[in-house]
Amino acid sequence: MQSPRNYIEENKQGFINELIDLLKIPSVSADPHYKKEVLLTAEEVQKRLQEAGCDTVEICETPGYPIVYGEKIIDKNLPTVLVYGHYDVQPPDPIDLWNSPPFEPVIQKTELHPEGAIFARGACDDKGQMYMHVKAMEFMTKNNVLPCNVKFMIEGEEEVGSESLEWFLSRNQEKLSNDVILISDTGMISKDAPSITTGLRGLSYIEVEVTGPNRDLHSGLYGGAVANPINILTQMIAQLTDENNHITIPGFYDQVEDLSQEERSRMAEAPFNLENYKKSIGISNIHGEATYTTNERNSIRPTLDVNGIWGGYTGEGAKTVIPSKAYAKISMRLVPNQDWKEITQLFKKHFESLAPDSVKVEVKPHHGGQAYVTPIDGIEYQAADKAFQETFGKSAIPQRSGGSIPIVSMFEKNLGSKTILMGFGLDTDAIHSPNEHFGIWNYLKGIETIPYFYKHFTDLFQKNK
Ligand code: BES
Ligand code: MN
Ligand code: MN
Repeated sequence: MQSPRNYIEENKQGFINELIDLLKIPSVSADPHYKKEVLLTAEEVQKRLQEAGCDTVEICETPGYPIVYGEKIIDKNLPTVLVYGHYDVQPPDPIDLWNSPPFEPVIQKTELHPEGAIFARGACDDKGQMYMHVKAMEFMTKNNVLPCNVKFMIEGEEEVGSESLEWFLSRNQEKLSNDVILISDTGMISKDAPSITTGLRGLSYIEVEVTGPNRDLHSGLYGGAVANPINILTQMIAQLTDENNHITIPGFYDQVEDLSQEERSRMAEAPFNLENYKKSIGISNIHGEATYTTNERNSIRPTLDVNGIWGGYTGEGAKTVIPSKAYAKISMRLVPNQDWKEITQLFKKHFESLAPDSVKVEVKPHHGGQAYVTPIDGIEYQAADKAFQETFGKSAIPQRSGGSIPIVSMFEKNLGSKTILMGFGLDTDAIHSPNEHFGIWNYLKGIETIPYFYKHFTDLFQKNK
């Protein structure tokens, strides 16, 4: 295959400008105020896929936001790569902490990105990484080097739990049939340590509501004699973990598999600098489950975290009040074999049992998803590794990630497909945070590497037939 490098060199300014245009549309799926913009983004993606050489591109309606589907089938005997990505983004808040407005992309140089990085919500997660695939497709079609069939499925509800996706998968099994699913929605270890994500954690997301008196009360007249829902809620949350940072929910660890010592030592070989880690997020010390390393805690171990907590008076100045209600949003990251629906039930039962009879507790499950581990002996892994070797001059390091992409296990269940996760973002790209960015070097490297995956996957597929 002709190297994509020249094509990228000649067209990179356009590639950057096109991504910037896409980032200007605030496709925040969580907030109904942005509905028009989310729909507009889908149309924009449709246009870009057409221009990149897809033969048909359609906007497929779902009960929620639409899925953009495109394909180019060149020969039924060749393998089919299905690219998945998402065009929706996380809400931008807290807005005040952005150095430039989240939907007015700017290019800025940073220590890790001396070539410049694009700062905008969605720059890395996932518009930037999704768009690498569109541009890689363009390179392959314009230069007649597309070696196999391609399908694109770009959704608009990933950041809110992909609720319409199972609906879509079950109705379009034939249309979506493929030989491998390719996703860039994860990261790599560093710019000189390419990695392949071999695991994702599952998720259970829950909201809890604690109700005390039927109205907010004067904290002098009633204080001491009536249960304060915020005090109670925080006491209940505190009981969810013990002094070793183990989760106390009965049965929570029953299905959790311990990794062998050999696997753990292999994991420990991945480059990691604890001092840089602490420095990059401004903490004086790390924290976590006893007897596990930082990289184990954030990938192969399950967790429980409060994502938000509110209630009572939070305005200017002071107001003396015992609130009627207190709330929290709680998430648990899960590992293979933990069933998210079962864990949600275990949480509910346990949390309700922690409540004293002076309050009422309601546990409301949100979305969730299963964890996933990818085999490293399949041809999709080999093809991705060869692709990294072509453009980085070295083999990729397999790495289990702590993040979740629930649809990956859904793909396996509904389509019987294996997924390969080739991420080009860095942990420091601040996804979901203020000042999210994506290095231009990473963006272009992604576009350069992806065509090699197609080539090697097709070669290996033919050989194995
Ligand atoms: N792209 C992320 C997941 C991710 C990021 C995985 C980096 C591995 C490395 C995805 O968009 C995401 O944010 N997923 C959510 C879960 C979803 C159900 C809302 C997450 O992990 O919190
Ligand atoms: Mn994502
Ligand atoms: Mn995300």
